[in-house]
Amino acid sequence: MKYKQELAQIIFEALDHEIPVKELEVLIEKPKNHQHGDLAFPCFTLAKLKRKSPAIIAQELSEKVQSPTIEKVEVVGAYINIFLNKKLVSEDTIADIIKQQEKYGALHIGNNRPVTIDLSSPNIAKPFSMGHLRSTVIGNSLAFIVEKCGYQPIRINHIGDWGTQFGKLITAYKLWGDAAKVKKNPIKELLTLYIKFHDEAENDPSLVEQGRNWFKKLEDGDEEATSLWQWFRDESLKEFSRIYELMNVSFDSFSGEAFYNDKMDRVVNLLEEKQLLVESDMAQVVELTDEGLPPCLIKKSDGATLYATRDLAAALYRKENYDFDLSLYVVGNEQSLHFKQLIAVLEKMGYSWASNMVHIPFGMMLKDGKKMSTRKGKVVLLEEVLNESIAMARHNIEEKNPNLTNKDAVAKQVGVGAVMFHDLKNFRMNDIDFSLEEMLRFEGETGPYVQYTYARACSILRKGNWQMAEIVPVSSPSWDKEWKVVSLLTEFTNAVKRAYEQFDPSQIAKYIVDLAQAFNKYYGDVKILEDNAEQQARLALVYSVTIVLKEGLRLLGIEAPEEM
Ligand code: ARG
Repeated sequence: MKYKQELAQIIFEALDHEIPVKELEVLIEKPKNHQHGDLAFPCFTLAKLKRKSPAIIAQELSEKVQSPTIEKVEVVGAYINIFLNKKLVSEDTIADIIKQQEKYGALHIGNNRPVTIDLSSPNIAKPFSMGHLRSTVIGNSLAFIVEKCGYQPIRINHIGDWGTQFGKLITAYKLWGDAAKVKKNPIKELLTLYIKFHDEAENDPSLVEQGRNWFKKLEDGDEEATSLWQWFRDESLKEFSRIYELMNVSFDSFSGEAFYNDKMDRVVNLLEEKQLLVESDMAQVVELTDEGLPPCLIKKSDGATLYATRDLAAALYRKENYDFDLSLYVVGNEQSLHFKQLIAVLEKMGYSWASNMVHIPFGMMLKDGKKMSTRKGKVVLLEEVLNESIAMARHNIEEKNPNLTNKDAVAKQVGVGAVMFHDLKNFRMNDIDFSLEEMLRFEGETGPYVQYTYARACSILRKGNWQMAEIVPVSSPSWDKEWKVVSLLTEFTNAVKRAYEQFDPSQIAKYIVDLAQAFNKYYGDVKILEDNAEQQARLALVYSVTIVLKEGLRLLGIEAPEEM
């Protein structure tokens, strides 16, 4: 990144400031083939400005591209290929990483401004689904990524704890519920009651009516309804918090849908004032025909508010309370229309900040090509998945490293990290196939592979009795064999930038896999611990790799054990 910026600056000067540096920087490429240098500048776009052929421009411009960090410049057709000075760049990069430690790779674009992130957001009294897992893992990572870019992340768990289904649940509980059973196994028991309600309601339509009445009571603050609801909510959150603890995810707020119950009148009034509410099929809606969207339902005929109404109230609340620069919603692809409508309604209300709200969708988690769902009875419990993954990791450790001291702690880091990495390594819109065996492999693009590489690097440092203070400044005659690793280290900031710009943690995941691979190749090719003049420089490189791998994993929400 730094060298790219520097090159852009040199070209900027060489072109007599005719093209802004930022534009030049965007044009600079990183050649796939190392024989084409470390950076390349294509001259096609300059042809019009200079009224010369791109090849001639490349030739002329190349003569002016000079700097101590540039070793060699080659012209190939319209391209200027830049070869960096390996010694200078290596030593500079390593010194930089050692100086900045985990701050290396940070971008200073956020000015500490708030970014709200709506993530996880499961529905209470229901099992935590795979969709909520994805939202949790992606949202958590995005929070770290925006923080790395200088923003202040605010993690909001918009719990699904309101709506007509709670009237049904209360009805079912009053008819068939057993307090002891619910206490013992809350989510499973509440789900059973909910399913029973639907089965029974097929023959007894009066149940639906009762459900509606109970929800009405709940909305009106009835004591019995409220205390049952509160109990269901508390018990559900207790179960969810075990999962969050396993995954090491925390939140700044658990204000979910219920929190907005008393904040919705205001939204409805505002919509009325702005003359946006119209009557349609006995319901109150906001027409979005001009926006090419179906109308957004605000209030049902019986006065009950809806999911969208609560999200409108939540958006206003978040703007007023957090004054966000950006407001992210990490929610499955199937809710894309909902968020389009939400943003469109807010824009119609005249809130310019609505354009800073971003829905960040993701694909599904599949098992054997089919959707993993929480369908009747057959439930994939996330907690079980995580625990199974931990058990398998524990088993692997027993086989590979039986003398490890803190096996349980490491098994947790590896088992949970495996599930998280598997989720984050592909672009989020792709569906992902769920396979524990695949996730836990030590080779290939997996969490354990990166963690293992980190642990291996840490072990080299221990064996080499690495003492950081001795080596700054780093020096070595040749950085040939190290170059691939160094050049990747210089790329970290770029990976962070891409991850931020595309709200895509897989940019980080791919980057650390590349770095781990390059490092392992280096480890295979070079005797790092050989006792000669270059040993300290090699160890300094290994140390830099540990810093960047660990920080990369951290940005994904994954821990890095030093031994495994
Ligand atoms: N609870 C919802 C669901 O499970 C997701 C909520 C997402 N966040 C929001 N502000 N709508 O489908």
